[in-house]
Amino acid sequence: MGKKVDLNEAVSFLYKKWGEIKPAISLICGSGWGELCEIFQNSSRIEYGDIPGMSSTTISGHNGTLILGKFKDKQILIFQGRRHFYEGAGWNPICFPIYLANALGVKTMILTNAAGGINKSFEVGDLMVLEDHINFMGSNPLIGPISHPKIPRFPDQTEVYCEELRNRILGMTHSLEFPLRKGVYIALSGPSFETPAEIKTYQLLGADAVGMSTVPEAMMCNALNMKVIGISCISNLASGIASHELSHDDVQNASKVALPKMKKIILMIIKTLLM
Ligand code: HPA
Repeated sequence: MGKKVDLNEAVSFLYKKWGEIKPAISLICGSGWGELCEIFQNSSRIEYGDIPGMSSTTISGHNGTLILGKFKDKQILIFQGRRHFYEGAGWNPICFPIYLANALGVKTMILTNAAGGINKSFEVGDLMVLEDHINFMGSNPLIGPISHPKIPRFPDQTEVYCEELRNRILGMTHSLEFPLRKGVYIALSGPSFETPAEIKTYQLLGADAVGMSTVPEAMMCNALNMKVIGISCISNLASGIASHELSHDDVQNASKVALPKMKKIILMIIKTLLM
């Protein structure tokens, strides 16, 4: 965590701005997903840089705004934009939003991202619900002194992504006009995209999609005993499977095209949680 004082300050700052808020659900919007907040009413927003302990995002497609949205008079805390390990600022900017959501009473975290498709049956624009992950980032956000009284030294990770919630969502997809895939997400530090040989290796390891985010956030939520559901948009086929070079612009464009699908899934998750 940043210094404990930062977390307390951040919570007091938000209470001062928004009153005694108590969101039970939070959403982290990955690359190009900032417009997901259009689902919610009465959105009130604060720039990350204005919140003690947080700082602005550095990547295009990541706005850097914290939003308090409402859905049927329930509050939803939306992180519009995330920080990444490859930015080189360590784990704190990535973990701080999770500590903050936890301190505000969030019980369920919805994580979204854009990912490269490794599973040969995936197509660009598909959505995949995360069943599990492989942390290949070369580090672990839980390294260091125990940073929170709720976090054990050796957190269990048997079920990082809530199976019950995932199965309920997968069970409802017959009402959608598109398939919802499921699979294992492998996280790399980035920022370079992978080589074709690396992708072949990750395929052998059991990965269905590859990306540079989400896993540390999911690990922190799990360690703090929060429920997690993760949704990837397959924004491109991974290196060596795609017939062209990879670029961040393509990732963002594919996310834009898949936005209506992602909105439907997020709505489905929120309605299920509020049922
Ligand atoms: N590799 C890593 N991260 C990604 C990719 C990819 O192909 N697409 C979107 N994020």
